[in-house]
Amino acid sequence: MHLTNDEEMILKGDRGEGAQKAMELLVAIGEAFDANRMIPVTRAHAASSGQEGDLFFVEILAKGNAMCKVPTTTNPIADFEYFQKIINIADEHQEASVAWRTKECYKRIGAIMSQSCIPYLAENIPEYGEHVAFSESSATPYVNSVIGAFTNRESIQTALAAGVIGETPEFGLHLKENRVGTVLVNVEANLKDGYSYSLLGQYVGKKISYGIPVLTGITNRPRIDQYINLCAMTNTSGAIPMFHIPGFTAEAKTVEEAFGGNTQHERIVVTDRELQEIETELQTATGDIDTVILGCPHYNLDQMSQLAHLLKDRKVRDGISFWVNTSATTKLLAEKTGYVQTIEESGARVVVDTCIDMFCWNHLKEMTGMTDSPKCAYYRRFGPVKLGSMQACVAAALKKEK
Ligand code: F3S
Repeated sequence: MHLTNDEEMILKGDRGEGAQKAMELLVAIGEAFDANRMIPVTRAHAASSGQEGDLFFVEILAKGNAMCKVPTTTNPIADFEYFQKIINIADEHQEASVAWRTKECYKRIGAIMSQSCIPYLAENIPEYGEHVAFSESSATPYVNSVIGAFTNRESIQTALAAGVIGETPEFGLHLKENRVGTVLVNVEANLKDGYSYSLLGQYVGKKISYGIPVLTGITNRPRIDQYINLCAMTNTSGAIPMFHIPGFTAEAKTVEEAFGGNTQHERIVVTDRELQEIETELQTATGDIDTVILGCPHYNLDQMSQLAHLLKDRKVRDGISFWVNTSATTKLLAEKTGYVQTIEESGARVVVDTCIDMFCWNHLKEMTGMTDSPKCAYYRRFGPVKLGSMQACVAAALKKEK
């Protein structure tokens, strides 16, 4: 890789040990992927988990006095004391203390504590054409596909290093020629709600594993929550950093343009049958449930509105714990608008800054859960799982009306 004088100086430790470690990581990645040079990034998002692997690197940066050079947001990192106030969870001492230490390190290096897995909607929004470094399952494809910014499929650590240096190695999706479609996905399924998009994403990611799908057959512009679900699930069951829906997503108006003129590509068809099969494959429970978890990825304001509408003047059955995950920013707006009050009057609880893959959910481990998210089903900290749309989750949790 060709490095400028400034970059060489950072690599030698001129800006401190933290920046040096960040640069070492970026250069190693660049060399592994045959990058010729570093390019500037304007923002980054680190998919922080508050777990050991996350702490390991951010602590090195913090101890080495690194500071973020460009706006760098974070994913959820659960807080023990916050959860203790909401529900009397056991003192998961080890996991809680790792999470706390991780959070302190992020603050020390000047990261923005958004603690949201959908930062591209509020706290850290790239524009079309910006080069950025975004990790997190929904964030990478959303930024590339829906917004038309340029990011590789980053890890927590590479995104963080890019945030500290303000640069990333130029390879992969930072180069226009690598952003063309590889597989045609003809969607014949009835995409009636956000949940259908989750199942579509789960199926497509699993089926093609890696590549850039070009989806045809979608005739209505997807809503933001539908895009988020498609992004999150394709990039969880598979490693899909980008897709095109010609006419709707940012970069390609036609199928030909999406494939860059290449006509030799794989084709798959997705019907209702494939969506049903993928749903059945993920379910490990039937019958009654003990808990509902929504908001993986974090619910946005539209979803909070939909949920408030479904729960208005209704009550969650005794014995069912019903949780809704969202970001602090969304919750603030949802409170001002009255959604949070309506949701919580039903007996459901709205929580912020946390993720379904964190210690605060360990108390659910013996329970049968229901969720609208295949990703939550995959990472769950509860027992057997049922899947269904938001409406189905609500229906399963409500008191029967007389
Ligand atoms: Fe967000 Fe955690 Fe789900 S980061 S997408 S709530 S697994």
